[in-house]
Amino acid sequence: MKKLIFIFIFFSLNIALVSCQDANATIQLQEDPRVEKIDDIDAKVNDLLSKMTLEEKIGQMNQYNGFWDLTGPVPSNGDAAKKYDHLKKGLVGSMLNVRGVKDVKAVQKIAVEETRLGIPLIIGFDVVHGYKTVSPIPLAEAASWDLEAIKLSAQVAAEEAAAAGINWTFAPMVDISRDARWGRIMEGAGEDPYLGSRIAVARVEGFQGDDLSAANTIAACAKHFAGYGFSEAGRDYNTVDVGTSTLNNIIFPPFKASVEAGARTFMNSFNELNGLPATGNAYLQRDVLKKQWDFDGFVVSDWGSINEMIAHRQAKNRNQAAELAVLAGSDMDMESYAYVNELVNLVKSGKVKESLIDDAVKRILKVKFELGLFDDPYKYCNEETEKQVTGSRRINDAVLDMAKKSIVLLKNDNNVLPLKKKGQKIAVIGALANDKTSPLGSWRIGADDNTAVSLLEGLKAYTGNTITYAKGADVVTGETLFPKELTINATDKSGFPKAIATAKNADVVVMVLGEHGLHTGEGRSRTDLNLTGVQQELLEEVYKANKNIVLVLNNGRPLTINWADEHVPAIVEAWHLGTQSGNAIAQVLYGDYNPSGKLPMTFPKNVGQVPIYYNHKSTGRPNLPSPGEVFWSHYTDVSNEPLYPFGYGLSYTTFAYTNLKVEKIADHQVKVSFDLKNTGKVKGKEVAQLYLRDEFASITRPVRELKGFELVELNPNETKNITLMLTDKELGFYDNDGKFVVEPGDFTVFVGGDSTASLTSQFTLK
Ligand code: NOJ
Repeated sequence: MKKLIFIFIFFSLNIALVSCQDANATIQLQEDPRVEKIDDIDAKVNDLLSKMTLEEKIGQMNQYNGFWDLTGPVPSNGDAAKKYDHLKKGLVGSMLNVRGVKDVKAVQKIAVEETRLGIPLIIGFDVVHGYKTVSPIPLAEAASWDLEAIKLSAQVAAEEAAAAGINWTFAPMVDISRDARWGRIMEGAGEDPYLGSRIAVARVEGFQGDDLSAANTIAACAKHFAGYGFSEAGRDYNTVDVGTSTLNNIIFPPFKASVEAGARTFMNSFNELNGLPATGNAYLQRDVLKKQWDFDGFVVSDWGSINEMIAHRQAKNRNQAAELAVLAGSDMDMESYAYVNELVNLVKSGKVKESLIDDAVKRILKVKFELGLFDDPYKYCNEETEKQVTGSRRINDAVLDMAKKSIVLLKNDNNVLPLKKKGQKIAVIGALANDKTSPLGSWRIGADDNTAVSLLEGLKAYTGNTITYAKGADVVTGETLFPKELTINATDKSGFPKAIATAKNADVVVMVLGEHGLHTGEGRSRTDLNLTGVQQELLEEVYKANKNIVLVLNNGRPLTINWADEHVPAIVEAWHLGTQSGNAIAQVLYGDYNPSGKLPMTFPKNVGQVPIYYNHKSTGRPNLPSPGEVFWSHYTDVSNEPLYPFGYGLSYTTFAYTNLKVEKIADHQVKVSFDLKNTGKVKGKEVAQLYLRDEFASITRPVRELKGFELVELNPNETKNITLMLTDKELGFYDNDGKFVVEPGDFTVFVGGDSTASLTSQFTLK
């Protein structure tokens, strides 16, 4: 209640402020000595820093949530009134979760016009897959393997967010993960460091554009540094314990690629790594990120992660947590209230050198200068632009295009798909078919509920067939208010009879099953990967009535769908595809778009196989020695093979790979070429993939690793010769001293349409 009253007073005050003060703050800034014509940003930063008190410097390192408490627990040790007071005193450098021109302007105005130095705030928000218009969840986008489309998706997300006053996104999430139980798997690019790195670059470039100071670009944030995707047992926030080689060769590459692509900020992570919480981990933040990789942006803590160092039992109290975090290189404190309360004394007592504070503040100010906030702190605050850009045609076109490209065709026996456009009776079954919220997925806090096109709506746009709908069973019951936990085990089967009757009467049944958008994401890990609630039973009952089923999956992670794979003729992986979901899926089902997506994660047969990933090590006992033997690396009850391998996905056409040639052009330059032919009857796209095995090395290497790919569109009977190059970057690896080495020896190349590709050739590096 107190908070509500505060919000009211806060905004009433600001409405008054906005109306009685000159809105053109640049006039005030021009009179400010710190904006005298100094060309170089570093010089400007140094000049400003020299005018700041210790308290003001530490204020820049303090980030507050915008009083709405959307994406984390409400801190018990601070209240909104205190935040407001700090804002006025210049003790806040950034706010998150303030959005919309009106609100951003209101807080920015306080920072710029009421504080002594008028330093603008940097406004952060989780623009993870779109702001108000939502694109597919990042895992789905990764399934497109279409770097241009992914870049455009980030670009339009930046455009819409920037128009709403936001200038910094907490994305891309570049955590590699091999564990589908982990709820945040939906937020990254999957299990592979090569694909993950290429996508990280596309996303950073998309958000930041060529000119960070433009009013339609925003600063990116590579997160969560590092290891968060390896939480034990897939349980969110759990301990991480990985070896040096995995850290260097699997976890680090997308982060390093993000730095190289110019990501201006990093976020550290909730987990510990080798006994040190990432927030208090100097090896990660200082040695690797800032020194080895020469990162000159700033690191923000994750929400409350400085305080969580106490729960981790690294720090005894907030004072020590602040000390350890700043020493370790965490530059900005998100919602721990640790820096703002503890750092002044830590500096005065000599425990923390002021030079460390200066370094953090310089990094933060530099990004603010680069964003152009000092030239015009309201550059992201134009009501007209906000109106024009939000939900624009261009943005909707881009997210529709992205959604179509993200769909993966998993099975299509007897060419059940594409659906005929006329004269068919189609039964549509499943609560998710008629859901306009779930397709938005998790991490879409800027979008309103009920704003996605449902699949039922998408199908109805095609008018040649008769469509009958039956829900069958709920996927969630009760409370659906974010961020409450959603029920996962809806049990009501009273809708079954109607669903069965509807199916009996139909030529084809489209069943939309899986998990709700909010069954995934932060804090939403699962120990089983089945269709939730009674959906599996519903599927089996409907199958008894009509076997001609197209199963459309809506999910944020690999699911275990063995029964469906054995029985159902067609399966379409449609993830959570965002605002245009229903239109995208309908266009694929009707063949107006030929699916081209490929899985960015291995799909397990059962949860006991997890973590299961294609680029595993060989082990000392990889093969069954002779029939019936037991002493080899396997399970007694299920094979080692996944249900669907990494890189897998079908099309309405077929492709053939031939003519593989491997040629050494120079010392460490290998040219791989092959022919790809469309052997089917329709035009289609294929992601041609190249995998490499380093046969023997000083440390064991994976059985194969993705090292190149090309997305190719071909007409029926058309053949294209594809060339992919292998250079040091692809041929080498990090040894256990963290040194990148390219070792002489034998290599095997594999090319094909997924990670089981069997066309091979060898070469030797001298
Ligand atoms: C916690 C999440 O881990 C992080 O990814 C997110 O950016 C922050 N909350 C802010 O919402």
